[in-house]
Amino acid sequence: MRQSVTIRRNRTVGMRFISSRGVEAGSLREMTAFRLSRDLFSLFRPDSRIILRAFLPTSWFGSSSTDPKEANRMSPESNQGLVEYYARRAAEYETIFSRPERQEDLGILRGWIGDAFSGMNILEIACGTGYWTEVISRTAKSVLATDVNEETLAIARSKGMNSAKVRFQKENALSLLHLVNQRFNAGFAGFWWSHLPMRGVRDFLNGFHSALQPGALVCFIDNRFVEGSSTPISRRDSEGNTFQMRRLSDGSVHEVLKNFPDEGRLRSSLSGLATELEVRWLRYYWLLSYRACDAA
Ligand SMILES: C[S@@+](CC[C@H](N)C(=O)[O-])C[C@H]1O[C@@H](n2cnc3c(N)ncnc32)[C@H](O)[C@@H]1O
Repeated sequence: MRQSVTIRRNRTVGMRFISSRGVEAGSLREMTAFRLSRDLFSLFRPDSRIILRAFLPTSWFGSSSTDPKEANRMSPESNQGLVEYYARRAAEYETIFSRPERQEDLGILRGWIGDAFSGMNILEIACGTGYWTEVISRTAKSVLATDVNEETLAIARSKGMNSAKVRFQKENALSLLHLVNQRFNAGFAGFWWSHLPMRGVRDFLNGFHSALQPGALVCFIDNRFVEGSSTPISRRDSEGNTFQMRRLSDGSVHEVLKNFPDEGRLRSSLSGLATELEVRWLRYYWLLSYRACDAA
C-alpha cells in the first residue's frame, strides 16, 4: 500500500504516510498537488493506524523537494518529523540509557562532562528529558536547558533539579540568536548532532555559537554505529545521510535521520569555527569538545 500527498498552504508541505505495519510512503517527488480529503484516508485499511508525518521541502529527510537548490537546506521549522517523534517517545526515552552493555561507557561520559563543565554557565540544547542536564548541573554554576518539545521538558522539570541553578525553557535549537547576551561560557548537546542533515551542520553550529561567548567550551556527545547493537540503517540518501526505522511502544514506526560521522567529518564540520578540538571515542559513543570561535 503506497500513498503520498503534497498540499499547498502558505508554502508547499510534503507529507508521508506510513501504516502501523511500517509500510513505506511513496516518493513525494512524483506527486503533484493533491487535495487532502477523506478519500485519501479511506485508502488505508480501517485497522491500519496511520502515522502522518509532515515535513517541508527543505526536509531533513532529504527527498521531498523538486528543486535541487532547496534540498536539505536548514530552516528552523524543517525537522518537524523528528520533533513529533521525540514528543511521542518522551515517556519511554530514558530506557535507552539502561542497556547493561553501555553502562561502562555512560559512566565515563558522565565523568568527562561533569569535570569539563565545572563552574560554567551552560546553554544546553535539545535537552530532552534532562538526563544529561542532571549530570552537568551537579558541577555547573548555571544551566539553561532547552528543548523544542514540551513533552520532554515536562519530564525534565519533574525531576526536581536545583532551581537556583537549572532553568528549563522551550527553544528551537535551530533558532537561538535571541539568547545572545546571556553570557553562556559553555554549550552542550547530547545525541543531537546525529540528527542533523550533513548539509545543515555548519548552519546549526554558526547559530549555536552565536548564542555563546567567544571562546566558550562546547561539548557534543553522540552514538557510534555498533553492528548488532545499533538500530540498522534502513536507507542512505544521495548526500550520505542515513536513516533508521524506529518503533515506539505504541506500535508506531518512524523513519528517523541518524548520522554516524567519523572523526574526519566532525573535524571538517568545525574547520575555522573551533580551537582546541578533541574527539574521544568509546565503544558506543563519541565525545567532541572544543572552544568556539566566531564564524570566519
Ligand atoms: C536524541 S534526543 C536527545 C535528548 C537529550 N539531549 C539526551 O541526550 O537525553 C533529541 C532531542 O532533540 C529534541 N529536538 C528535536 N528537534 C529539536 C529542535 N529543532 N530544537 C530543539 N530540540 C529539538 C527532541 O525533542 C529530543 O528531546
